[in-house]
Amino acid sequence: MPAATTLDWIVRRLHRIVLDQPFHPSALDRSKRKPPTMDTKCIQDIYDPQFVKGVFDRCSSRYRYWSQIASFGFVFLWRRQCVDRMPAMPSTEVTGLDVMAGTGEAWPYLLRRRENITSITAVDISSGMIRRAIERLHRSRIDKIKVIEADVLQNTLPAASADFVVCTFGLKTLSSAQQRLFAKELVRVLKRGGVLSLIEASDPKGWVLHGLYRFYLDRVLPLVEKFVLRGAQDFAMIGVYTRNFGDCRFMAQCLAEEGLDVEFKAFFFGCATGVVGRKP
Ligand SMILES: C[S@@+](CC[C@H](N)C(=O)[O-])C[C@H]1O[C@@H](n2cnc3c(N)ncnc32)[C@H](O)[C@@H]1O
Repeated sequence: MPAATTLDWIVRRLHRIVLDQPFHPSALDRSKRKPPTMDTKCIQDIYDPQFVKGVFDRCSSRYRYWSQIASFGFVFLWRRQCVDRMPAMPSTEVTGLDVMAGTGEAWPYLLRRRENITSITAVDISSGMIRRAIERLHRSRIDKIKVIEADVLQNTLPAASADFVVCTFGLKTLSSAQQRLFAKELVRVLKRGGVLSLIEASDPKGWVLHGLYRFYLDRVLPLVEKFVLRGAQDFAMIGVYTRNFGDCRFMAQCLAEEGLDVEFKAFFFGCATGVVGRKP
């Protein structure tokens, strides 16, 4: 291909990537450019539960394999660590919640590693994720799991009903105000002596590879999604959410303020962080 044609191809390609529009030669002519305008329709509240539901409904068919690939398999390890770090529970039969359960990836760990769990109630706002979770319910687990489609911040779960609560990778789509509300809800639904363990992908500030980590989340993943998955940049939102979320310290503080005994945890140089705790 002649150099001029190659250059032309690159310009057209970049134009499509950056502006998501086909290239037109007038774009290179400054005199024909329109002045920039503020498109108010583009301003979204990315923490609006309905917006979050839309993101996960659209992602649901590819969520399982994409989360495994994008995290280089770390999600498996982190879910297991979240379950293993949950404080000890009574040795009698216990029941509890998997909140923001998605496709139910934490259930095998809960049922295998905490054998006295007799039932799990899974709560999620996304019908797409729930549909996949139900499709994945294995026969041996079907009698132990109840799935509820609901916004966890506006739920009707009975107070003091759960011996345990887990939440794997659901926190980042909560704003600070929503994290406070979520902490109140968790404390409300836990029984006295009940335990919790939460984990979330985090922003490992101070880690020597932080720049590379951010480059991967902010630049590489969106490009992979765009070209390989031909997606609507939904998975790419993870970069924005994790940067805004930071880590689980604030969530730990909210839970402590609600009266829980809590401990902050960091996993793999802070790329994931968690909170474990007990309601006194
Ligand atoms: C990243 S996925 C994690 C799913 C699963 N726990 C896992 O380990 O893979 C986050 C889930 O949280 C759910 N979610 C987000 N905000 C929610 C809310 N306010 N109420 C209920 N579910 C919510 C989403 O629908 C999504 O399924």
